[in-house]
Amino acid sequence: MAAGLAISHGQTKDPGLVGRDAEVAEIGAFLAATAGAPSALIIVGDVGIGKTAVWKHAVHAASGTYRVLSCRPARAEAPLAFSALDDLFGGVLGEMLPGLPEPRRRALEAALHGSPGGPFTISQDETTIQPRPRREAAARGATATRAGTGGGPIGRGGTQSRGGASGQERLRAEGDGPDGHGRPRPEPRLLARAVLDGLRILSRDRPVLLAVDDAQWVDRPSAQALEFCVRRLDQAAVSILLTLRGEDPVFPLGVEQALSPACLACAQLGGLSPGAIGTILRARLGVTFPRSTFRRLHEACGGNPLYALESGRALLERGRACAAGEPIPIPAGISDLVRPRLRGLSPDALRVGRLIAASADPREHVIRAAHGGQDSWAAMDEVIDDGLIRRDSDALRFTHPLLGPVLYAEMTAGERRDVHRRLARSAGDVEERAWHLALGADGPSGEIAGLLDDAARHAAARGAPETAAVLAEQAMRMTPSRPSPEGPARVLRAADYHFRAGEIGRSRELVESALTGCPAGARRAALLIRQAAISCHQSGWAQAEQLFHQAALEAAGDPELRAHAEGELAQARLAAGDLPAASRWAAAALRSAERAGRPRLLAHSLAHVAAVEFLRGNPVRADLLALAERAGAGAGDEPVEFLALAGPALFAGAILKWSDRLDEARQCFTGCYRRTLDRGDDASLPYLLAHLSELECWAGNWDAAAEYAREGRTVASETHQQAMLPAPMCSLALVLAHQGEVTQARGLATEALGLAERTGNVPLMSTALAVLGFIAVSLDDYPAAHAHLGQLTRLAAGAGLDQPSVVKFLPDEIEALAALGETGLAESYLRRLRARGQALRGPWALATSARCRAHLAGMAGDHVGARAACAEALAEHERLPMPFELGRTLLTKGITQRRARRKSAAAESFGQALAIFERLGAPLWAAKARRELSAGAPRPPAGGLTQTQHRVAALIAQGQTNREIAAAMFITVNTVQTHVRHIFQKLGVRSRTELAAVLLATQARTGVFPGAHKRDGDPG
Ligand SMILES: Nc1ncnc2c1ncn2[C@@H]1O[C@H](COP(=O)(O)OP(=O)(O)O)[C@@H](O)[C@H]1O
Ligand SMILES: [Mg+2]
Repeated sequence: MAAGLAISHGQTKDPGLVGRDAEVAEIGAFLAATAGAPSALIIVGDVGIGKTAVWKHAVHAASGTYRVLSCRPARAEAPLAFSALDDLFGGVLGEMLPGLPEPRRRALEAALHGSPGGPFTISQDETTIQPRPRREAAARGATATRAGTGGGPIGRGGTQSRGGASGQERLRAEGDGPDGHGRPRPEPRLLARAVLDGLRILSRDRPVLLAVDDAQWVDRPSAQALEFCVRRLDQAAVSILLTLRGEDPVFPLGVEQALSPACLACAQLGGLSPGAIGTILRARLGVTFPRSTFRRLHEACGGNPLYALESGRALLERGRACAAGEPIPIPAGISDLVRPRLRGLSPDALRVGRLIAASADPREHVIRAAHGGQDSWAAMDEVIDDGLIRRDSDALRFTHPLLGPVLYAEMTAGERRDVHRRLARSAGDVEERAWHLALGADGPSGEIAGLLDDAARHAAARGAPETAAVLAEQAMRMTPSRPSPEGPARVLRAADYHFRAGEIGRSRELVESALTGCPAGARRAALLIRQAAISCHQSGWAQAEQLFHQAALEAAGDPELRAHAEGELAQARLAAGDLPAASRWAAAALRSAERAGRPRLLAHSLAHVAAVEFLRGNPVRADLLALAERAGAGAGDEPVEFLALAGPALFAGAILKWSDRLDEARQCFTGCYRRTLDRGDDASLPYLLAHLSELECWAGNWDAAAEYAREGRTVASETHQQAMLPAPMCSLALVLAHQGEVTQARGLATEALGLAERTGNVPLMSTALAVLGFIAVSLDDYPAAHAHLGQLTRLAAGAGLDQPSVVKFLPDEIEALAALGETGLAESYLRRLRARGQALRGPWALATSARCRAHLAGMAGDHVGARAACAEALAEHERLPMPFELGRTLLTKGITQRRARRKSAAAESFGQALAIFERLGAPLWAAKARRELSAGAPRPPAGGLTQTQHRVAALIAQGQTNREIAAAMFITVNTVQTHVRHIFQKLGVRSRTELAAVLLATQARTGVFPGAHKRDGDPG
């Protein structure tokens, strides 16, 4: 596979049904509501859109309620009479036949496979049915097996014995109605009656679902018999589930005439979302395509999974990515599906079609102008009347997604050039005009390449770096081969646009090809900086650092490039956990930036120095930030070529966030976020979103926090920024941990920790460890908490990080150490935390250090000290917008009050803490508060669970529903409900999530579930 075409994941697998939740729910609801009465539902849509996939899913889901009889007729040249009936009823003949009157029984036996004459074939004109010669009959057996659904929950497989086999002799003996071949032929009406009787028998104790995939291929005799039955179903509990190829919902088998509208439904399948198609391609082909290729693939296929799979395979077989403007390959088998619709078009209509196919944005007036003159009206009407094109407000669209790609692919190179030249003449927009000029040109042209440069800049400025990248690459191709400075500059720009758009693999290819043979010096330094930035996003800082060093050396005479390289080296040292060196590089970058005299660069370097100095424990350098802001404000629009993450505002936002000024930080970050989105800068998004998420988590806006983190994770993985991935993963883990989803949170944090270790990123390792420590504290698992946080303490000290409000773990470590009896160490950390808080006047450090002081004092019996510390903490909380921390302080306050035997005051504090945790949705911490409340209450609630209750609780913790638990334990749902009520009372929990969290917490502490030893019958 060519590098950059796709990322291979190696394995392929069945993704299951993807992205059809709404349809599946609709079908499920309909089948559930109509079970027991005649009803019909059809699934309609284009070939390959996924009708069979949805049908199979629905049939499988219905098999709990319904007895399913299914068939999947295949298109065949000479259709076999009764093959659909045979597939539907062949396996249940044994149940049907005994209940049928003799003549009907014989008719049924004769028609279905077990008869001596069958199978029958139908004549071309569908007027006569005749038995098939023996050799063909044998082949038909094989077809039936293949067309069946493979013996799964649907279909009946090909090998079941048929109930009617014993009737063969008798039939032959009776010689009933022999045809020209001396064999019996079924009488249609008798047969239909027999099927109807059979359906009534089968549906007596369980509703029947007749499920037919591709109803258009049901052989005519079977269809007639079924239609006869449908008209006479009366009250029989028979439902019908069909798939039908086509665009319009046309109900087959006469169901529309026979059933009332309420008993009819239609699920029309449209194209799948890009996300769903991406999942299917990843699973089935084991690859992820670059985003721009994927976007075009999805567009060309109109969300049709079959087309997408086939085109994706064709792309992989060809082994190279599509160049800009080159059509996505549509394999012959797929393009054959629409080719007949293109036959018979007049030359004029064909020309219109081709213009639309070659145009990215086919506005009607542009197409008409490109087509030229009077003829355009008639030609336009013709393609619209033919159903090839439809008007979509001002634009013209093909009625089928494949028509455009097929038309384009079938043009010769000369025809394409002509079409593009015409479009260039009529295009109004700079980007479109340059694009069509390039595709209409006979060869390279300096003038057109220049127009493409302008067009790329135009696209980048409107926040479309993907388009800019495509245009820039086209400019590269259009550059005449004689050496000129424009060529390398174009490559660099194209690489930058790709990088910005998150198309990092392509960016890397361009940079690496330009590096080959490039002599040492400023030009090479510029390329090395790009190569390093890419390497840093994909594999982490360790590898990138050497490249940045090399770049700094080669850029000696170019202060701008040098500032750039030195700034990145500061980041590299920061990631490596070496803040003193980071500080030296940041200062060097600032000096170079001053020499370079570029305001944007200067702003960036100033903010960078401020951030590094803050991390080392120094007060906020408001002076530097103000200078940065002033320099940035005068710099005008940020050049798209600038590679560094989000820019000075990101550093400023981070400093505000770490200084507990969350509202200002939010404003700063959301501004960054908007600009990043406007610029289409996917490379900066994951890190920025991780910051935003952590901020909202601290501020108690957990849904927003989770959403930001998820978005960051999606962007990072879609754009293959492996090294950026742990940042949003940690943020997500932190929110989930607060929300009591500890298993998931722990998994994420552990994975993030591994990734951060592999990419050598100390700040991210620290964040992951802090989350793991917090999870353990939430579960009262102090040894585990100390294991993580002790490691983190060493890491932070080694790095020179002396700002406890950045990675907020010290209060957790102090609590863990106190619980483990390590009071001396706890006291020393407490002094540090408090000193940092006092030096910076940071409310978070002051509030949490006072809380920890109260905790330690209370444990030591110093009730007066504890009380004073609580008051101090609460005063700091007044200026700290972090509600969860306030809840924790109130919890600590309650505990110290109870220790001082001030029971009602304690109860009030616990109640306040509980209210906060409940409002935030922190079940583990709400349960802690509730446990403390009940521990002080006059009559503690009963403790242990009975064995049965314990089992029920364990199943709830696994996420099972009451119905599933009832089934698993062979008890009724009502009984389960009663158990659940008692369990909630005993454990003092209010929701299933809370229950799961409490069980996990107890398990972490003791290794067993609460009260697991009581036997049923013991007083509960
Ligand atoms: N929602 C889906 N999730 C996963 N795969 C799908 C989905 N829809 C279709 N496919 C896959 O796409 C291909 C075409 O789907 P199919 O159900 O056979 O289409 P149809 O019956 O409409 O012609 C099959 O390989 C199928 O497995
Ligand atoms: Mg199908």
